[in-house]
Amino acid sequence: MYQRFVNIMRGLSTNWIGLLGVSLTTSAFFLFIVVELLRLLGILTSTYIGLITYMALPALFILGLVLVPVGWFILRKSTGKKTKELLNDKFEDLEIEGKTFGSNLMRTILILTVVNILFLGGGTARMLHFMEEPEFCGTACHGVMQPEWATYQDSPHAHVACIECHVGEGAGALIDSKINGLWQVISVTLDLYEKPIPTPVHQLRPARETCEKCHWPDKFYGNRLLNNVHFAKDEASTPKHTTLSMKVGSGKGTSKGGIHWHISDQNEVRYASVNDEREEMLWVDLKQSDGTFKRFTNRKLSAQTDDVVRSLDCVDCHNRATHIYEDPDVAIDNRISEGLISRNLPFIKREAVSAITGNYPTKEAGLEGIATQLTNFYLFNYGSQMGSFLVDLDQAIATCQKVYDKNIHQNMNVTWGVYPNNLGHQQGEGCFRCHNPDMVDENEQAISDDCTMCHSILANDSDHPFKFLTPGQEKGDPDYKMHLYHQSEFLSSLDK
Ligand code: HEC
Ligand code: HEC
Ligand code: HEC
Ligand code: HEC
Ligand code: HEC
Repeated sequence: MYQRFVNIMRGLSTNWIGLLGVSLTTSAFFLFIVVELLRLLGILTSTYIGLITYMALPALFILGLVLVPVGWFILRKSTGKKTKELLNDKFEDLEIEGKTFGSNLMRTILILTVVNILFLGGGTARMLHFMEEPEFCGTACHGVMQPEWATYQDSPHAHVACIECHVGEGAGALIDSKINGLWQVISVTLDLYEKPIPTPVHQLRPARETCEKCHWPDKFYGNRLLNNVHFAKDEASTPKHTTLSMKVGSGKGTSKGGIHWHISDQNEVRYASVNDEREEMLWVDLKQSDGTFKRFTNRKLSAQTDDVVRSLDCVDCHNRATHIYEDPDVAIDNRISEGLISRNLPFIKREAVSAITGNYPTKEAGLEGIATQLTNFYLFNYGSQMGSFLVDLDQAIATCQKVYDKNIHQNMNVTWGVYPNNLGHQQGEGCFRCHNPDMVDENEQAISDDCTMCHSILANDSDHPFKFLTPGQEKGDPDYKMHLYHQSEFLSSLDK
């Protein structure tokens, strides 16, 4: 059997073209198996090795397969003999005349063909699978995806594959994404892409197909308590407490609900925005299953006839569901809350924000600049206490560097505020893009921006953290009245 295989290989390697073909195919085949084994064993992990294995090797394999018949064809041309004659010449010593010809040679070729098809099928499947791994999407293109990759890894969706949100289900989505991917490879190679990558992503799959695979709109109900602690820029970095009770319900039917009312089955909110950028709204309309129709137009802007109309979905509010870039102030607040930056360091809130918002030409310069700026500040102003600060200072520097590393990517022109979050109204207009006094219907009724429509404000920059008081508790408590009032409001909103 082995001898027969070798003979046939020799027979196929009729001239240098055939020989090249056979060697290419065989070595690509064995190399693939070896690399694949090493990858499965976790010895090779680099995305680039993956790229070579799943793209270059199968390509060489196919090239080899094509060269074999080409070589044969050229041989036929040059000798002027027919295939059968040539076969007889070549395989004389193999008793391929008559019956044995059909059974031996053809069987071997058949087996080889089956092996080829299995190999290519398996290879293609592995390649598609590999290209769907977040690792590939996040790291294959030389840092182009570095900002998205960094923010993704630190998000609630760190274990949700990129394609779950970006590609969606079905053959159509897959083909679209491959065509799009091909264009991306070209634009990265030729450096044609925009930096930063523009947002919003117009070809993102509809949220109904992606987000709703895991999050079901009807399950939103009640309130969600949100505690934000902000730290003042004074010497003690004094904490201030804000507590919101977010009315996240979707409501039942067309009746008034809460924040997720927009995406309940019964309601459809559509809008058009300037240049389809989803920032400045031209008009908003609302259709409900009971036949209600309202249209609000922006007093300050006039609509065009060719405006792109969009149905509001999850990503109009959750545009930063995964690629969550932080606000520098809030980033430092959160690290202090988590105990990663110590308030024992005087003015640490102010100094940390100032260090991470410095204008540095490269990431390396930034990381170094943060360390220098913070060290110098404490050295010059608190030199005598430096000894007792060292441990906290080291941790503060490392934490600030991590914040910087996650949010700032000079290679893609991503700095603070490039990708604002629309969930709220702190980083840009957010909800107020539509909920503002200029967005009015024909009766001059605006889309409400009432401060308690979306949340109850249980505490606002308060010195004390919000707490529910138990009945009968000290009337002398300075916050007693406020807490009592808000507790009843909170409880009654739960009943709704
Ligand atoms: C949970 C869903 C989700 C996952 C998982 C996800 N993304 Fe995104 N991605 C989004 C949304 C939402 C946007 C913003 C869309 C918009 O505003 O139009 C976005 C935007 C982007 C953008 C455009 C730039 C920007 O930030 O607006 C890129 C590039 C991107 N994602 C790449 C990736 C890569 C690479 C991965 C995997 C490592 C990934 N995404 C995983 C939901 C997701
Ligand atoms: C494959 C499943 C999956 C998909 C698809 C998905 N998510 Fe999630 N999402 C999750 C899981 C799991 C969590 C909870 C993580 C946790 O509790 O830490 C989550 C958490 C969230 C949260 C809450 C974060 C918080 O503050 O508690 C939001 C908001 C969210 N997802 C929005 C979206 C949006 C918008 C999309 C579509 C662009 C989406 N998700 C797509 C699985 C998914
Ligand atoms: C594209 C425009 C648009 C955006 C963006 C938008 N909304 Fe709305 N929202 C509407 C419209 C239209 C209504 C209905 C107004 C009416 O009927 O008077 C509404 C109603 C509401 C309601 C009342 C629901 C009810 O029960 O009647 C809440 C709560 C709400 N929005 C919260 C939010 C929050 C929170 C955000 C930001 C995260 C937001 N909205 C962003 C258009 C928008
Ligand atoms: C009108 C704006 C808006 C739309 C549209 C919207 N959300 Fe939300 N969502 C919010 C706000 C605001 C919150 C509360 C944020 C917070 O508590 O920090 C929230 C909270 C959430 C949470 C966490 C809530 C919880 O109970 O833990 C999830 C998950 C979520 N949204 C998913 C989705 C998905 C999926 C969609 C689309 C089907 C969607 N949202 C559509 C504004 C919106
Ligand atoms: C259309 C809905 C909506 C309206 C109207 C609205 N807010 Fe908000 N507000 C939000 C959302 C959403 C958030 C963000 C929650 C989060 O961080 O996830 C928020 C956050 C806040 C915060 C917390 C800020 C922080 O950093 O801790 C305060 C304070 C606040 N709102 C005050 C107000 C006041 C005052 C008004 C009236 C002028 C108002 N809001 C009107 C939706 C709304």
